Amino acid sequence: MPIVVYFSHRGEHLINGKIQSIQVGNTETVAYKISRQLECPCVEIVPVTAYPQKYTDFLGYPNWLGTLPKPIVSFLQETDLANKLIYPFCTHEGSGFGRSLLDLKILAPASTIKTGLPIRGSRVLRSDKAIENWLIQFYESNNRQEDLKHAKTNSWT
Ligand SMILES: Cc1cc2nc3c(=O)[nH]c(=O)nc-3n(C[C@H](O)[C@H](O)[C@H](O)COP(=O)(O)O)c2cc1C
Repeated sequence: MPIVVYFSHRGEHLINGKIQSIQVGNTETVAYKISRQLECPCVEIVPVTAYPQKYTDFLGYPNWLGTLPKPIVSFLQETDLANKLIYPFCTHEGSGFGRSLLDLKILAPASTIKTGLPIRGSRVLRSDKAIENWLIQFYESNNRQEDLKHAKTNSWT
């Protein structure tokens, strides 16, 4: 069973060059779309509480200053993800993953990092197709034929 683990920040955001307040974080929106699609648990990393000790398959975060936010760095330092597959997804306001995938590889050297999904924060509500397309790699390696058929029918490739 995969698990979606994410860190997200609610409140004021820079969206298309303007400060706006949002109730649900951009990365949180994408995380819940993925967990609904996979019918799997979705766990939020909250800095003041203990980090989950279970294994990660999908790791989501906002791009902060070109890389991983500190709570994600702490999570990776404190969690043994050896031999796990990590499917990273991030939201951003123009920089994509930045150097976060390189930093992720350094922090999780014994994990396999699969192809990631970057989504612009201001487009998360329109990200269903991108998510579906990205999940094809997961369905293929887990032999989920029904989901694969559905994703390929809906995808643009
Ligand atoms: C402290 C901070 C630093 C950020 N740095 C970057 C950045 O370097 N590049 C970028 O494209 N977006 C950057 N952003 C924008 C966020 O990545 C973007 O708004 C994201 O969708 C927020 O996701 P969240 O709502 O899940 O926290 C930054 C936002 C914050 C709050």
